[in-house]
Amino acid sequence: MVKVGVVGVGAVGRMAHLESYLEHPDADIVAIADTNPENLRQVQQDLEERQGHEVAAFASGEAMSSAVGLDAVSIATPNTAHFTPTMAALEAGSFVLLEKPMTVDVAEAEQIVAMAKRAERWVMVGMTHRFRDDARALQRFVDAGELGSIYYGEARILRRRGTPTGWYTDQKISGGGPLMDIGPHALDLGWWMMGCPEPLRVSGYTTKAIGHDGLDFLDRWKTYTPGNQDNAVYDTEDFATALIYFKTGATLHLTVAWSVNGPQDSGLKVNVYGSQGGLSLDPPTVFATRHRVFTDTHVPLTAGDYYKEEFGHFIRCIMTGQAPTVAAESGLTVVRMLSAIKESAQSGKDVILGE
Ligand SMILES: NC(=O)c1ccc[n+]([C@@H]2O[C@H](COP(=O)([O-])OP(=O)(O)OC[C@H]3O[C@@H](n4cnc5c(N)ncnc54)[C@H](O)[C@@H]3O)[C@@H](O)[C@H]2O)c1
Repeated sequence: MVKVGVVGVGAVGRMAHLESYLEHPDADIVAIADTNPENLRQVQQDLEERQGHEVAAFASGEAMSSAVGLDAVSIATPNTAHFTPTMAALEAGSFVLLEKPMTVDVAEAEQIVAMAKRAERWVMVGMTHRFRDDARALQRFVDAGELGSIYYGEARILRRRGTPTGWYTDQKISGGGPLMDIGPHALDLGWWMMGCPEPLRVSGYTTKAIGHDGLDFLDRWKTYTPGNQDNAVYDTEDFATALIYFKTGATLHLTVAWSVNGPQDSGLKVNVYGSQGGLSLDPPTVFATRHRVFTDTHVPLTAGDYYKEEFGHFIRCIMTGQAPTVAAESGLTVVRMLSAIKESAQSGKDVILGE
């Protein structure tokens, strides 16, 4: 049994982390931590009933990691509260599953990578979309080299309206708007499907074009609350776009928005273009030519149960000694690109990341 502690038992901590461990035959939740005492007590009670044994509860991840011997620590705190519990968990000798974005600060992400090396443990970053059935199937065509030389990618999520409520719009806690919320997912998946090339230069643009607005007759967006009236502080952007240039010569165009006056994307859109072939995530298709004829290979898969895959992979890696698919080093590269987008948007100049 892998002894697991979960830090941050809010929306994603409960719905994805705890539910996935509860379902997993080799995972046992022995401790939780959260700064909200009421939430902590409720979740503790629920877990004790469902698992039939005591679950220790703490006001911080640091207190949890120093008190309980844990094989694994799973972290789902708000973006700027990722660093401290991760360092404490590594120091205590646990493997870590850390939500995206790994951090919103490059220096913190670098310290996590260094700490993991020292502790001889690894950190897996929660890039959930890499665990989708459709994405994993398409990735096989990329790995097999069937796209030829990849020169361009597009990754996008545009919501007509879909601003998450609470801390997400508070820069101090989130580190950014859609760039730090849906941006890490879109950027990571597009970058991964291009073969994770080394970024050299970033040109970014962000704006808060719409912000709060009082709309009636709004359909409930499938994940979050309608409209964006419940955000006490709203000092982040609501739109971000960037062009990232890679060492391979390829470029990636990223665009994410919580609010646009245009059609709403049904989900994450990724397209990758190569000299021999291309691919599209939605619907999952591989484009090529054979015998001087266009061929489209339709992959009859949906996203599937990606949380089950992600958390199953985490537990399997601990049990088998295998390295996780989404290593801390790749989480760090994503943080570098996100930070460069922010910096470029602020300065109005390209940011150079490599030679
Ligand atoms: N992988 C995914 O699909 C996915 C989806 C949504 C959100 N996320 C990420 O998950 C994280 C959590 O998001 P959420 O929507 O669940 O937020 P949330 O606000 O619903 O939950 C966060 C929880 O952490 C607690 N908390 C706050 N600071 C803490 C601290 N320092 N120590 C311990 N507990 C603390 C809060 O009390 C709350 O219960 C974010 O980083 C977000 O980007 C990932």
